Amino acid sequence: MKLWAGRFQKDTDKRVNDFNSSLSFDCRMYKQDIRGSIAHADMLGRQGIIEASDTAKIIRGLKEILSDLENGRLTFENSDAEDIHMFIEEELTLRIGDAGKRLHTGRSRNDQVALDIRLYLRDELNEVRQLVIRLIEVIVNIAENNMNTVMPGYTHLQRAQPVTLAHYILAYAQMLIRDIGRLDDCLKRMNYSPLGSGALAGTTYPLDREYVAKTLEFSGVTQNSMDGVSDRDFVIEFASALSLIMTHLSRFSEEIILWCSSEFGFCELDDAYSTGSSIMPQKKNPDIAELVRGKTGRVNGNLVALLTVMKGLPLAYNKDMQEDKEAIFDSIDNTKLCLELFADMLRTCRFKNENMRKASLKGFINATDCADYLVRKGMPFRDAYKITGRLVAYCLENDKSFEEMSVDELKGFSDLFENDIFPSIDLINCVNGRAVCGGPSVEAVKKQLDEIKIFLCQAK
Ligand code: ARG
Repeated sequence: MKLWAGRFQKDTDKRVNDFNSSLSFDCRMYKQDIRGSIAHADMLGRQGIIEASDTAKIIRGLKEILSDLENGRLTFENSDAEDIHMFIEEELTLRIGDAGKRLHTGRSRNDQVALDIRLYLRDELNEVRQLVIRLIEVIVNIAENNMNTVMPGYTHLQRAQPVTLAHYILAYAQMLIRDIGRLDDCLKRMNYSPLGSGALAGTTYPLDREYVAKTLEFSGVTQNSMDGVSDRDFVIEFASALSLIMTHLSRFSEEIILWCSSEFGFCELDDAYSTGSSIMPQKKNPDIAELVRGKTGRVNGNLVALLTVMKGLPLAYNKDMQEDKEAIFDSIDNTKLCLELFADMLRTCRFKNENMRKASLKGFINATDCADYLVRKGMPFRDAYKITGRLVAYCLENDKSFEEMSVDELKGFSDLFENDIFPSIDLINCVNGRAVCGGPSVEAVKKQLDEIKIFLCQAK
């Protein structure tokens, strides 16, 4: 018998029951549902809306249900409850009788579900945040060990200018720091209690909304009952923050996949974090990185699904909104999984510094520095650029690097070349010459690292 059966003369069709039911996926919010109900019952008692003895019975009953769910004495299987809220309320009434029927006084499932999802996402957001911080720590560690590891930086995937592995990899730390900022920002708007909004128009009972909000560690209460039950902005904001985290992981994955190839040979994944081929014995595949890149697709898909579900809904609650859960849960589960595995894969990855250095020697990644040398000797940059371009063409034709040219040969391109050109185009000098704030010089990267460490101390 449905809780709402009073108005109906027929049982619902079995397929309608199944179609309508969200228990199979919203059961994961049982802790938050019970926590919210305890706070509500406590407040009802304090306000004299229900008897203190009923409050006590309700709270005891809810705590028992929680522990029975936790140790497996009570399960969701075979229940025909419509959702987690009905499941808990029905179970409570089964256990404590009439007092259980008083729990829902001054409350609707509409504000109840709005509360539960906020509580649930708040917990998950903190877990995602911790995982992002752990990944930043792994990156910082690799950077500290590779302050002098020269490698090519790329544009258009063409060797461009020399950087260090530390500088390269800290770019990802910067992206993840912004991700933390986005999570924190999302939490600020999520952290308001909608309880007391009722079905849509509040309630006639003298509820103490502030008390409930305080008990549940919210920073305040929502200010409009219709918005309170129908706002899912925070779900979309969270989904969007997760999408960006995954986008960053996906780009990083792409680097790792390229770097693991023989063509790059910049790193080798640990055996524990790579896989083989069923037919090609020589293969060692970066499956984790590829799966992270692949799963970004579904996380982005979930964001679009959520935006699309919400875009046509009039106020206030509509059942469409039940669709928010599977999408956001899927984004959370997959992002957490990816963050965890990616961090361990990266932590155990072996970087091949010698190959990075060798790749920096070919490809004239010090050509800009050569032009800058001529500029320092008084030549306008555009002329210096042209002369260096001719020099590159000459070297390519004669299969030489800049370093292999003699000063006399160089003078054929410009009188300004002297012996001091060679230290000027030495790779580590080129890197350290870029000492501008945010640049790749060892000094500048040290400053960057210090800032990141301060961030980590404050963020933890
Ligand atoms: N299972 C519903 C959801 O997830 C709970 C709220 C249902 N309210 C209602 N009036 N049908 O959105």
